[in-house]
Amino acid sequence: MGAGSTMERIARGIGPIILLGSPGAGKGTQAKRIAERYGIPQISTGDILREHVQRGTELGAQAKDVMARGDLVPDELMYGMMAWRLRQVDCERGFILDGFPRTPAQAGWLDAFLEHEFFENQHRGQCLPIVIRIDVDYNQLLRRLTGRRSCPVCGRIYNIYSQPPRVADACDVDGSRLVIRNDDREEVIRERLTAYELQTRPVAEYYECKGRLVSVNGDLPVDEVTAQIVRLIENHRVDAADGS
Ligand code: AP5
Repeated sequence: MGAGSTMERIARGIGPIILLGSPGAGKGTQAKRIAERYGIPQISTGDILREHVQRGTELGAQAKDVMARGDLVPDELMYGMMAWRLRQVDCERGFILDGFPRTPAQAGWLDAFLEHEFFENQHRGQCLPIVIRIDVDYNQLLRRLTGRRSCPVCGRIYNIYSQPPRVADACDVDGSRLVIRNDDREEVIRERLTAYELQTRPVAEYYECKGRLVSVNGDLPVDEVTAQIVRLIENHRVDAADGS
């Protein structure tokens, strides 16, 4: 089959992985697991933007009110931020994108960026991006988002209904007090879900037209969703190694 052992494939590089899905679908939860498994960085545009807001940078000042409303940050602000991040040396073997692209324009920008800056460099990953959409029933999403808590120090994500910490309100890893995200208030959640339907759902169509979209059932427990994603990634890598 020409793909070598799992360890060989991991060492060879993995290429870009794009996770799509509505707010609360489990992108962040799964991206962290996949990043750890393959030793590649998780690039969460939401996390990067929240960090800019917290540090009070110029980008943070421009993004703050937009994010608080549940709208998308303008595409032009995202490109500089993403280009900088994707050029970092830790991305050379591959990376997992969680929250980008979020508009068809961002998807087009990413394709052009990968073609010119990623695939042209022979030292970088050989695999074409795999685009995985996590599908979750709409009624589940509100519960997932209103129940979410996260650790401000290590970023671990919990849910008071489905994945509670061992001690209420404290991170299992470092004991920090868990926080509720500013945009996880019900009125903002509704705006985020609307923004997803109008602006981000077409991104899946963009990749579907190119024959690059695969989906997993995100209604299942976390471990089972991870197993589905890993299977898709491994199949994709075998296909890439075989040149099919
Ligand atoms: P961002 O931070 O990307 O938020 P999002 O897309 O709304 O996604 P979430 O982080 O809310 O959900 P998730 O899918 O990661 O789910 P999670 O794993 O946490 O973006 C925030 C804002 O930044 C945007 O609104 C926008 O303003 C701006 N922005 C970001 N990127 C942008 C871009 N590219 N362009 C423009 N603007 C941008 O899981 C949710 C909960 O469910 C957790 O509690 C978790 O424990 C639980 N859970 C997860 N999986 C399961 C499961 N299988 N079963 C049960 N519970 C589960």
